[in-house]
Formats: sequence, C-alpha cells, structure tokens
Amino acid sequence: MADGRAAQRALAVIGAATAGVVAFRALRCAAWWAYLRCGPVLADKYKGEYAIVTGGSEGIGLGIASALAARGVNLVLISRSDDKLSKAAAHLKAEHPGVAVVTVAADLTAGGAVGKVTKALDRAGVRDKCSLLFCNAGGGLTRAALYHEFSDKEEEAVRKLNGDATYALVREFLPAMRARGRGYVVCTSSLIVKMPWARLSTYYLEKVKVNGLATVLQAEQDATGSGVGVQAHALGAVVTPALVSFVAPDAAAAARAGRPAIGWEREYVRPSFLMPSAGDVGEWMLRAMGKGGSAVVTPHPGHALAEALVSDVALALTWPGCLRRAVARRFAQTWEPK
Ligand SMILES: NC(=O)c1ccc[n+]([C@@H]2O[C@H](COP(=O)([O-])OP(=O)(O)OC[C@H]3O[C@@H](n4cnc5c(N)ncnc54)[C@H](OP(=O)(O)O)[C@@H]3O)[C@@H](O)[C@H]2O)c1
Repeated sequence: MADGRAAQRALAVIGAATAGVVAFRALRCAAWWAYLRCGPVLADKYKGEYAIVTGGSEGIGLGIASALAARGVNLVLISRSDDKLSKAAAHLKAEHPGVAVVTVAADLTAGGAVGKVTKALDRAGVRDKCSLLFCNAGGGLTRAALYHEFSDKEEEAVRKLNGDATYALVREFLPAMRARGRGYVVCTSSLIVKMPWARLSTYYLEKVKVNGLATVLQAEQDATGSGVGVQAHALGAVVTPALVSFVAPDAAAAARAGRPAIGWEREYVRPSFLMPSAGDVGEWMLRAMGKGGSAVVTPHPGHALAEALVSDVALALTWPGCLRRAVARRFAQTWEPK
C-alpha cells in the first residue's frame, strides 16, 4: 500500500516536472515569436546596400531575397542555372521596382567559383557595396544511405556545397565587412543537428560544421569589436523544390514535366505551421538576424516550437528512452531503400 502511494507520488512529481518543462519551453517560444514579430529588423539598416544570396534563384534563397527586396536591399543572386536566375530576377524586379538585382551563374562546388563571383561583382561595380552575405545554397543529398554506403563523390558533393563553399565565401567577403565596420553573415543550417537520424549523415555533419563556424566567427567579431555579426539559422522542414524532390520524387518529376502533382504529396508537401513556405521562412530569417543572443538560432516559430518540444531537456524528460529509440528507428525506416 505504502509502495503504491510512493509510486503515485513519484509519477505525480515526474508529470509535474514534465508539464513544467513543456510549459516553460512553449512560453519561451511565444516570447521569441513576439520579439521577432515586434522587435526591430536589422536588415532595414541595409536599405540601398547589397546582399549576396547563394541559391537565391529558388526555394529558401528566393524567399530571403524577396524579404530583402521588400526592405529596399539590393541583391546579388548566385546559382548555377541562368534560366532560374533570370526568372527570379524578373520576378523580384516586377514586385520591387526600385531594387537592383545582379545575377551570377556559378556552380559553388566547382574550383574557382568564388573568384568567378568576385569578378562578376567587380564588373557590375557592386563588390564594395555588399554588406550582407547569405550562405544559403546547400543540401545536395540525392538519396538516403548509411554513412559508409555513400560514395566518395556523393560525400564530396554535400561537403563542398554546404561546408567548403560557405567557408570560401566567408573568407572572401568578411574582411571587407570588418574593414567597413558593418555587415552581417547568415548561414542556412538545419534542425537535423538536433536530430541526427540514420541515413542522412553527410548532410548532418556539414550542418554541424556550419553551426560551429557561425559560433566561432561571432565570438571572434565580439572579441575584436568588428561591428559585424554572424549567425547560423537552424531550420526545420520548409516546402521547397529540394524538399519535394527528396521526400516525393515522383511529384517533383511530374512538376518538372509540367504535370500537376498527384497523390499523398499534394496533401503532405504543402505549407503548414510546422512545414512553412520558403517565402514565410525568408521573412522570419530577416526578423531573427542579430537576435537571440546566440550565433545559432531557429527563426521560424513553427520550427522553434518543434525544436523546443522534441529536443534537449523536454525530450529527455518527456520521452522515455525506449520511446525515443522507437521514434528514431521509425524515422530511419522512412529512408530505408525499398
Ligand atoms: N527545404 C528544407 O526543408 C530545408 C530544411 C533545413 C535547411 N535547409 C537548407 O536551406 C538551404 C536551401 O535549401 P532549399 O530547400 O531552398 O534548396 P532548393 O530548393 O534546392 O534551392 C537550392 C538553390 O540553390 C541553388 N544551388 C544548388 N546547387 C548549387 C550549386 N552547386 N551552386 C550554386 N547554387 C546551387 C539552386 O539553383 P540552381 O539549381 O540553379 O543551382 C537553388 O537556387 C540549404 O542550405 C538547405 O540545406 C532546407
């Protein structure tokens, strides 16, 4: 009898602690949402200057570019395809007539890509006007596999696009920002770093490095009072062509062939609070710049809530280990070759 009461009390204490942690985290998310919604937006200070956006021709990069253009920031868009760049530039200029858009077609995984970018910026006469750098192009994972199953070529492609290209761009453009005493660098990262699920290892490793880069660079800017800021923005799932290609390849192929998507993907790969559109995320990324007191932040409220409720302390307290392992196994099976 006494044992039963002790167990009940222990359960009540665990339940209360769990509810407390969840409530605290949910409240912290609400405060973060309010701060981003109502607080000042750093990008407003860069009106009339230039922002470099890699992968700016579609997906999240285009979302960031649209949000910048809406604030009067001029743009340098970088991606491989001239076609996509021209379409994106035409769309942005039509929506925001006062904004200048320079496009640079370059494969950031190719040798000499950054040199090609700087030459194009010199030709356009805008190199010394670039105060913002969004190292956003990334992903590149074409299939899910265990770490040792990825070929050297596959591993290298993900590393070059997410990691190496980011380092090279930062090394090229950060010194000029420091010399001017103003500027901001944002690297697009992923919440995968909090949830290292099986079969996505190469991508996970590169995003961990990107978070580390932002953290150490911000520490260096603080230590030297440079006036420049650096952040990594850890995003959850966002509806973009890359996401659709990865989770619903048939729908992506149908869209490329001009056929409407059919089947479950129409229902599930569409914007929602937890999986927002690229335009929505671009706007929240601008709102988060320079906020959060940390070099690694999660700007979108849906992603921040998902992070708060499934990771760290909440995860440890609210989810028993066996349940966590079962969920991780279930996700791993999602990517298992059929
Ligand atoms: N979508 C998500 O759910 C999600 C979640 C978390 C983090 N992220 C991160 O967000 C970033 C953007 O992802 P996204 O989903 O928007 O991707 P996306 O829809 O595939 O867009 C990728 C952009 O990058 C360009 N690009 C691709 N490879 C390139 C290369 N080698 N050199 C230069 N440009 C290249 C593409 O244009 P071209 O094809 O013309 O080159 C396109 O403009 C990535 O860093 C990704 O890791 C995405």
